Amino acid sequence: KTIADLGDLSGRRVLVRSDLNVPLDDSGAITDDGRVRASVPTIKGLAKAGARVIVCAHLGRPKGAPEEKYSLRPVATRLEELLEQPVAFATDTVGESARSAVDALEDGQVLLLENLRFNPGETAKTAPERQEFAEQLAALADAYVSDGFGVVHREQASVFDIAALLPSAAGGLVQSEVEVLRRLTEDPRRPYAVVLGGAKVSDKLGVIDNLLGKADRLLIGGGMVFTFLAAQGHEVGNSLLEEDQLEVVRGYLKTAEDTGVEIVLPTDIVAATEFSADAEHEVVAADEIPADRMGLDIGPDSARLFADKLADARTVFWNGPMGAFEMEPYAAGTEAVARALVDITASHDALTVVGGGDSAAAVRQFGHSDDEFGHISTGGGASLEFLEGKTLPGLEVLENS
Ligand code: 3PG
Repeated sequence: KTIADLGDLSGRRVLVRSDLNVPLDDSGAITDDGRVRASVPTIKGLAKAGARVIVCAHLGRPKGAPEEKYSLRPVATRLEELLEQPVAFATDTVGESARSAVDALEDGQVLLLENLRFNPGETAKTAPERQEFAEQLAALADAYVSDGFGVVHREQASVFDIAALLPSAAGGLVQSEVEVLRRLTEDPRRPYAVVLGGAKVSDKLGVIDNLLGKADRLLIGGGMVFTFLAAQGHEVGNSLLEEDQLEVVRGYLKTAEDTGVEIVLPTDIVAATEFSADAEHEVVAADEIPADRMGLDIGPDSARLFADKLADARTVFWNGPMGAFEMEPYAAGTEAVARALVDITASHDALTVVGGGDSAAAVRQFGHSDDEFGHISTGGGASLEFLEGKTLPGLEVLENS
């Protein structure tokens, strides 16, 4: 169901679950506001329709109690700037502050509730524990809009349980994310290449399993690549290594060989003495990483190889940086992948999808705008689980509600 199915919203209190989980620096400033910007069209649309808009969201992973560093207050300020209208802020989620702020709302006005995860009911493991909180949230509103695509894989009170308690619909962001990601899973244009990076293979097991039957090429970089290199028998020095995944990765290499999926690994690596921008570093062959060095980026030959392997792709999904891109000496590999995706989007209208907070932040850090790519997903774990073919609770509940 879409927002249109909720009927006339004028004067009605609409609770919107957005994903406003943005990175903050030590001073509390937002370092990438992509998710806030992505939440704006739905909120604006509801306000224009005359609804009293109550936005709820989480930030970070507080343990069910208030913690100043996880307050959504800085996000309220950013939302206000982007919406170009005042955003009231409630210092709790379902308590006195929230209830009186909701009562004070007039048609077309917007309120943001404090971090949902300050309440233990939000993330509780069992339904009865979540139910009371879901009911308290539902009591604030007349209708519910699920627009936080980044959280639809979470079976949590504000994502899952609440949809059974109020007339519910998917917001425009959830709808458009699902439409694009479906194009990756249902008959993608070929060649279909997937670029995976980030720290851990263990975070990507499900998606690799699934993609081995679907993608034509799998390009691997980031911290997880060292488990692949080690599985091939190479020394990886002090690089990240998940010993307990070596057998699994050997299995992937074998399946890829049997099914004709090309797995592309880096041929050279930027290896440093320690995890620091100032550390001594050099480019070494991927099969000759010195014992006292750690790999922090793919090397220049690999960057060219990866760009080459992406040049004719017509569909690309990318999740996870190629190196420690936040530090300038280790950013080039990630930058090369971003550039390759921008090029093929422009040259032959390839469908390029960037998923995951780090990769999305990286492309913006390199100065690219979102519209140079086919789609920048607001979902990290959610987009991976979608590609794994898993049932996402926050989507399923809307279908059944
Ligand atoms: C994300 O950052 O992927 C979403 O906001 C979900 O956050 P979570 O992994 O803490 O549930």
